[in-house]
Amino acid sequence: MKREFIVLLWLMAVLPCFSVGNMTIRPGQIWKDNRGIHINAHGGGVINHNGTYYWYGEHKADTTSSAMVGVTCYSSKNLVDWVYEGVALPVVDEEGHDIERGCILERPKVIYNKVTGRFVMWFHLELKGRGYAEARYGVAVSDTPVGPFKFLRSGRVNPGLWPSDMSQASRAAADTLDAGNYKEWWTPAWREAIVNGLFLKRDMHAHDGHPAGQMARDMTLYVDSDDCAYHIYSSEDNLTLHVAELTADYTAHTGRYVRVAPGGMNEAPAIFRKDGKYWMITSGCTGWEPNEARMFSADNILGPWTQHPNPCVGPGAGKTFGGQSTYVLPVGDGFVFMADIWRPGHPSDARYVWLPIEFEHGLPVVRWRDEWTPVEYGFK
Ligand code: DGJ
Repeated sequence: MKREFIVLLWLMAVLPCFSVGNMTIRPGQIWKDNRGIHINAHGGGVINHNGTYYWYGEHKADTTSSAMVGVTCYSSKNLVDWVYEGVALPVVDEEGHDIERGCILERPKVIYNKVTGRFVMWFHLELKGRGYAEARYGVAVSDTPVGPFKFLRSGRVNPGLWPSDMSQASRAAADTLDAGNYKEWWTPAWREAIVNGLFLKRDMHAHDGHPAGQMARDMTLYVDSDDCAYHIYSSEDNLTLHVAELTADYTAHTGRYVRVAPGGMNEAPAIFRKDGKYWMITSGCTGWEPNEARMFSADNILGPWTQHPNPCVGPGAGKTFGGQSTYVLPVGDGFVFMADIWRPGHPSDARYVWLPIEFEHGLPVVRWRDEWTPVEYGFK
């Protein structure tokens, strides 16, 4: 009896390690970590540092989408088996703190700065009790990949600065626009004003209790081959994406930024580069509900960007397989598309859709697979 009990204990300890089985990734299924617990790292991103992958994401509670814990971190050698490394950036129990427990902290991404030797985390932050009104970025740094990250600050982006892809004439025209004259949204006149910079101009300076600077919600980071890094975020009330250059230490904006698809309503940006061309997969704006993915390409990260058809193929492709893009991870010569299937009624039960990106006729394709094996695609 005692021996059987010991065998049972051993099985309980060992079985979770094999829970994903056969080195396969199963999009949309429960994905257990080394403890046998469904991975809790949503809206996240992955880096490869010295041969180990680190996955950072939002810890989601069972009954609220607000941040009750912080940003979690997992590590892996093979993209399939993940070890829980703990909370890399914990929320804070100090009333009024920017990242006070109960704030909204979404879409954290981490990049490594070769010069400072530091890991830099950026995320979308909404102050506790303010809904989605603040539309801030947050930034934190750490000397190790697993943290703890030290929170630096939050804010809006590039106050008082026009985007570099706007001519002097367009800036002058935008400067005459007044949001007070366009109270009714979605009219043709309002749409035209948005494209011409109505909200860009509105947010240039402090207004209605908001500090000066561009709104920053859904976001990602991208480090280019010249080590220049960029913050890509939904701005202008989620109507227009911005690509903003970061300083050499990756902890601030340089002031140089461009607009992408003005008025196009893109969220959830994920960027990658193949053979010198930049690709960006995004979603539309439908809250936690899935919608059809969009795709853009550019020869320069600062644009111009051109839109292409939805890259998803297979059952559910019209709604991104029930998910919303969050990141594209380069692995060897290939890329892994990462998305989240949100469960707003039970946030911690949200699922992950990870799929290999294929290229057909020069265009990225994300094809649905019930399961797939990273090694099959040459991913190690
Ligand atoms: C869609 C965004 O992509 C998510 O990160 C989250 O902010 C939800 N909207 C909230 O409705």
